Amino acid sequence: MNSKKLQKATNISWHEGEISRFDRYKILPQKGATIWFTGLSGSGKSTIAVALEKALYKDGILSYRLDGDNVRMGINKNLGFSEKDRQENIRRIGEVCKLFGDAGLIAISSFISPYTHDRDDVRQLHIESNLEFIEVFVDCPLEVAEKRDPKGLYKKARAGKIQNFTGIDDPYEPPKSPEIQLRSHEMSLESEVSAIINYLNECGIIKAKKNE
Ligand code: ADX
Repeated sequence: MNSKKLQKATNISWHEGEISRFDRYKILPQKGATIWFTGLSGSGKSTIAVALEKALYKDGILSYRLDGDNVRMGINKNLGFSEKDRQENIRRIGEVCKLFGDAGLIAISSFISPYTHDRDDVRQLHIESNLEFIEVFVDCPLEVAEKRDPKGLYKKARAGKIQNFTGIDDPYEPPKSPEIQLRSHEMSLESEVSAIINYLNECGIIKAKKNE
């Protein structure tokens, strides 16, 4: 969606501050960026996000997790699971990630984000804002996610007690060229976290710790 078309308020103008993003980066051990997990419910997004946040914290890097279920209890509590609501869910989170990145934080978002065009809109928002967007596809076959069924939702969806459930009667469009692809049913949690941390190091978002 063209975000300019959404602009409702008129007669508003951007008010510049005197401390820039780059000033903020100078006093932080990291650059702002977004790590965007996408994948089926039960694919492991939230588990990897929690482990990543912990590993970064141990290295003195500040990140902040935005998790689908949690965010839907707050800022997005007025949204359901129709295509339109999912689009608005992702749009708002994309904007929040952009603000966090501008503030100098590493935003770790874990949302199913099933539609390619919604994820691409968030990517575009980051490109326009000169912020790094790292799409991480948590690639787990539906059969495995359904077997795990940590919240018992696949069972309910199969029984017709939940409608529009991703992977059952709602689509999931896998990313074609994510920055990182994690086959979560074949990899250890540790190696998944390492793959992301290595990527952050390579991009210069965080600095590798020197061996003492
Ligand atoms: S998204 O599609 O809009 O990105 P989001 O990640 O915020 O979804 O929320 C997904 C979570 O909501 C799932 O992990 C699951 O716990 C819960 N959920 C409840 N109903 C549905 C549904 N119909 N489809 C997918 N997830 C659902």
